[in-house]
Formats: sequence, C-alpha cells, structure tokens
Amino acid sequence: MSEKARVTIDGITVEVEPGISILNAARQIGGDLVPPAMCYYSKLEGSGGKCRTCLVKVSKGSEKDPRPMPKLVASCRTTVMDGMEVENMTSPEVIEARKGIVELLLINHPLDCPICDQAGECDLQNLGYEHGAAGTRYEFERRTFDKIDIGDKIQLHMTRCILCYRCVFTADQLTNNRVHGILGRGDASEISTYIENVITNDFSGNVIDVCPVGALTDKTFRFKNRVWFTKPVDAHRDCPTCKGKVALWYKGEEVLRVTGRKDQYGEVEDFICNACRFDHKKTSDWVIEGPRHIENTSVISSNHYDTMKPLPVIQQNKALMEANKVEFERTKKI
Ligand code: SF4
Ligand code: FES
Repeated sequence: MSEKARVTIDGITVEVEPGISILNAARQIGGDLVPPAMCYYSKLEGSGGKCRTCLVKVSKGSEKDPRPMPKLVASCRTTVMDGMEVENMTSPEVIEARKGIVELLLINHPLDCPICDQAGECDLQNLGYEHGAAGTRYEFERRTFDKIDIGDKIQLHMTRCILCYRCVFTADQLTNNRVHGILGRGDASEISTYIENVITNDFSGNVIDVCPVGALTDKTFRFKNRVWFTKPVDAHRDCPTCKGKVALWYKGEEVLRVTGRKDQYGEVEDFICNACRFDHKKTSDWVIEGPRHIENTSVISSNHYDTMKPLPVIQQNKALMEANKVEFERTKKI
C-alpha cells in the first residue's frame, strides 16, 4: 500500500491517499475550511477547473520542495504532496480573490432569486452570501437569452448558466447519446442542443440536479413552491433502471418533486432515472424511509416562515410526522 501524504490545511493536519486533490483532502477534514466548489463534482470524471471558486494558497509546496506556489491554485485540480501546507479561510489573499470570482460569476447571472426555482438550494446564492462583496463594478449591458425547453420536462435558462460543464459531463457519462454541449467560445459560449434537439434519455433529468444554479430546472416543479416550504423525505422503490433511492419533496399531501439525495457538498449520492423523477409522484409509489437530513445552514432547515399545523396526511404517516417534528415543536412554542 502506498504511503499516506500529510497535508496541513488552515492549521489542521490530515493524512490522505497520495494523488488526491487538495479539495478532497479538505473534505476529509470537513467544516468551514472546505473550499466552495461550483464546477467540481466528485461523481463526474474530468469535472473541475472551470469556475475558480475553490482557489487556495499553497504556502509550502511539499517536504521535499518547501517553496510556496507562486499563484493561488484551484484546489479541485491540484494534487496534494507530502508536507504540503495550504491556506484557505486563513488567507486574506484567498478571501479577496474569492470575492472577485463571485463578482465575475455574477457579471451575467441575474439576481432573480425571488422568482428562481433554485433559490434556497443554489450554490451561487450561497457563495454570494458567504464569499461575495456587496457591490459590482460592472457597467456594461449583461447578456441575456430566451428560455428554451430542452425536452418536455427540462427548461434551460441560459442567462443563469455559469458554464460549469457539469451538465455536459453528466450527459456524457450517464447516457449513450449526448445531444447538448457548450457552443461558441469566450463570452459567446452557451449551453445548447444541436439543432433543436431535445434531451430525451432515461437519465437526462440528472442535469437538473447537477446544475449549481437555476439554469436547468424541472418543468414539472417550476413555480409550484419555494423549496423552504417543502418537506424532504427519503424514499425508495424497486426500479429496474436505477437504484430508486430518492428524496421526495412534500407540500402537504402532495409530492411536488422527486430528486436525487444530495450530500453536504450538494452532490447526489446516486443518479436517478427519469421514471423515478418525473413519473412517480404519489406517496403510494414509494417506500418512505424517514426524514431527509438537511444541513443546519440550509434555508430549508431554518424554516422560519411556515408554521402550519400537521396536515392529516402527515399525521397518519409516521415518517412524515418525524420529518416535520422540529418544526411542529417550534410552532407550539410560538
Ligand atoms: S446549465 Fe447549469 S450545469 Fe450546465 S453548464 Fe450551465 S450552470 Fe453548469
Ligand atoms: S470547483 Fe475548482 S475550479 Fe470550479
């Protein structure tokens, strides 16, 4: 077995497999020192290196060659070396650079969070709040696009796209027949299907889950509700196409949408098929496992607005009752 590499990130040392990226080493430590990632997705080969949100400072290259790296580096694409020392949240240079990256990503991205279905679970919204500056210096006209339906279940709102390539890698690696990609170069780049093709294959809906912003949205959920008013529940079914492990998002008695189960880094645990995602929206289609764990920092868990009483369907279902427990207890105190 190969020897482990010792890496120190923001003063915390961890031993990791040699050859992994700084970002994945940081994820092994966890917490605030994990750099944000808008384009890297651990389940998608080749992802990363596009958005620069994961920039860190390498203040010591390795035990053998302790020289610092001359520039900030993308932690998702930089391999750890034994004895390496990395600064993320402890480096004023990184904090400043990240503000600039947020400003750059927001040059064309509209601030239409109040009407965007992704609000509440948008990586760019979180990044803006946690790492952004209050203003922008950009004075020119922003580029805009018309919304396009790419298939009957998915809508592309290119104006919101940050060109992270995740949806392209998803289509490439999950399906036999990718029909969309990034056309054009530089500021003319855009996600597009080849000559009015539509994305139709069993796994096409996963582009919605991997999109870090609201550029690719589920047409069956559009404008139905805000995510923080919905209740996520883990459920599964015996599916011949995928593992059938999903999150159901309830509003009262109704399943408003079905998604993959996302971890603390916003990545799905398993990709799910379109039949599970779009065609099974009845509680009776699923075996309910229990409440979905939502990070404390998520707007979904800090639901300050919805103080409804448990609906009959929830009261009759143990798992849904459990999923709503915290909220009901808070309601009683109000
Ligand atoms: S549509 Fe979404 S997933 Fe695809 S490149 Fe744009 S931001 Fe990334
Ligand atoms: S997450 Fe590393 S460059 Fe995008």
